[in-house]
Amino acid sequence: MEFRHLGRSGLMVSEISYGNWITHGSQVEEEAAHACVRAALDEGITTFDTADVYAGTRAEEVLGRALKGVRRESVEIFTKVFWPTGDGQNDRGLSRKHLTEAIDGSLRRLGTDYVDLYQAHRYDYETPLEETLKTFDDLVRRGKILYVGVSEWTAPQIQRALEIADQMGFDRLVSNQPQYSMLWRIIEADVVPLCSREGVGQVVWSPIAQGVLTGKYLPGQAPPSGSRAADPVSAGPIGRFMNDDLLTRVQDLRPIAADLGLSMAQLAIAWVLQNPDVSSAIIGATRPDQVRENVKASGVKLGADVLERIDQVLGEHVQRDGSLVERMSPKTRD
Ligand SMILES: NC(=O)c1ccc[n+]([C@@H]2O[C@H](COP(=O)([O-])OP(=O)(O)OC[C@H]3O[C@@H](n4cnc5c(N)ncnc54)[C@H](OP(=O)(O)O)[C@@H]3O)[C@@H](O)[C@H]2O)c1
Repeated sequence: MEFRHLGRSGLMVSEISYGNWITHGSQVEEEAAHACVRAALDEGITTFDTADVYAGTRAEEVLGRALKGVRRESVEIFTKVFWPTGDGQNDRGLSRKHLTEAIDGSLRRLGTDYVDLYQAHRYDYETPLEETLKTFDDLVRRGKILYVGVSEWTAPQIQRALEIADQMGFDRLVSNQPQYSMLWRIIEADVVPLCSREGVGQVVWSPIAQGVLTGKYLPGQAPPSGSRAADPVSAGPIGRFMNDDLLTRVQDLRPIAADLGLSMAQLAIAWVLQNPDVSSAIIGATRPDQVRENVKASGVKLGADVLERIDQVLGEHVQRDGSLVERMSPKTRD
């Protein structure tokens, strides 16, 4: 496993990290979740990503139990806050009250005294940015979090947060967590150029487009049983990729992977890691063998000719619409 700095911070992270959205506390049983975490650790992954909202807070508990007994200094634990975790009017968002209460819940569930990175899961249009950033800064001073990041914020939102931090002397954001894959390149236009200048790293999610880029979903056929797209609870978010034209193009990537001696998943993960602004690619897994296969993308170099071939195959199926990032954060509560 190779390691990279998280943005311009001193923190080193494994360039492939493990995340437990949809899987822990929901799609997979506790035993399978532990087996995936064990495989990740065995393969050299040190960075683990979760969120308080995943599986209604159960995902943090599962990860906490799976990492029990692991030397705390040997891993980097990331979590997130924003989406509702209860019915109360303050059980959501990025207010001082919710951040202060939410971190204690996350620490309790994860079984740790601090998280390495605390991320604002979305932008909060209802809370002054100064209030959020001051509270994050206070949590750093209180030793509950070490670094501050965001997820799916637009370039202007990240820029404003950096300006406020510089004016007020707060800790700066060190990372953003956006969706990024061969099929989803929205951050390349605005977010990456800004973040690259400012030392904010990208910790990217769904590098294999939730499994689509493994090529296991075939056009005109039902999803394989046991896969995310076949699971009635988790099939929603993957649905945007499940159309026959796109799935056909994905099959056309097979010769490119074969020429390189890579699996399709390895090619997709290696692709995101070619971007030097990516600090880490977060992979999900339902089985330990997926982790063992996918980590082999670490350190793989892809030539310009390979990148060009991929672009030719995927063509107009690559999503670049920047307005989608803005729509990721709800402007109102309902
Ligand atoms: N910040 C955000 O808003 C946000 C949003 C989403 C995710 N994330 C983070 O990103 C992490 C990863 O997201 P993701 O799970 O969508 O990532 P992903 O790596 O693109 O997809 C993972 C899924 O693909 C399938 N898979 C993985 N390796 C495979 C292989 N070698 N062969 C066949 N199938 C394979 C598995 O699902 P099946 O076996 O069920 O098919 C697995 O759960 C999350 O856990 C979370 O930490 C963040």
